[in-house]
Amino acid sequence: MTALNVLIYPEEHLKVVCDPVVEVNNNTRKIIGNMFDTMYQEEGIGLAAPQVDILQRIITIDIEGDKQNQLVLINPEILEKDGEQDSAEGCLSVPGYIGMLKRPERVKLRAMNLDGATNEYEFSGFAATCIMHENDHLNGVVYPDIAEEVYTTEQYNEMMAEIAEESENKNKEKEDK
Ligand code: NI
Repeated sequence: MTALNVLIYPEEHLKVVCDPVVEVNNNTRKIIGNMFDTMYQEEGIGLAAPQVDILQRIITIDIEGDKQNQLVLINPEILEKDGEQDSAEGCLSVPGYIGMLKRPERVKLRAMNLDGATNEYEFSGFAATCIMHENDHLNGVVYPDIAEEVYTTEQYNEMMAEIAEESENKNKEKEDK
């Protein structure tokens, strides 16, 4: 298995609508193994094949990063989505930035797994944002294309620190009273 090179936005191949996988075979499984290797090396929680210049509809996800709950989605098809949540997300193809956007709260989808079997899945909360983020990659969409705001990681961390400080001050005021 090999870690692959991650394409950096706005590289042209990140804008391609990827092809469906026709047959899940050993080559597909090799690609998926390499995608996981790449993801762990880069400390990401999700990866879409076009990010490593493979223009096929394949997603790998491991939110905990401990290899216990690896998720492979081949030719994912979003069946339903509902609700809305605020999402602050990064991307291995957009290093050093955080984007703010809206994502559905829940998503239901159909996809093939490593064995080529088709399953239905439902995700909510953070997992739903991950799925939608990776699914966008398969359609040539990277979050800066659709984000409401994009901050550098530094700006974002400063903002979060200020918010934390404000709420701490409010708590102190309450204590003083
Ligand atoms: Ni991404």
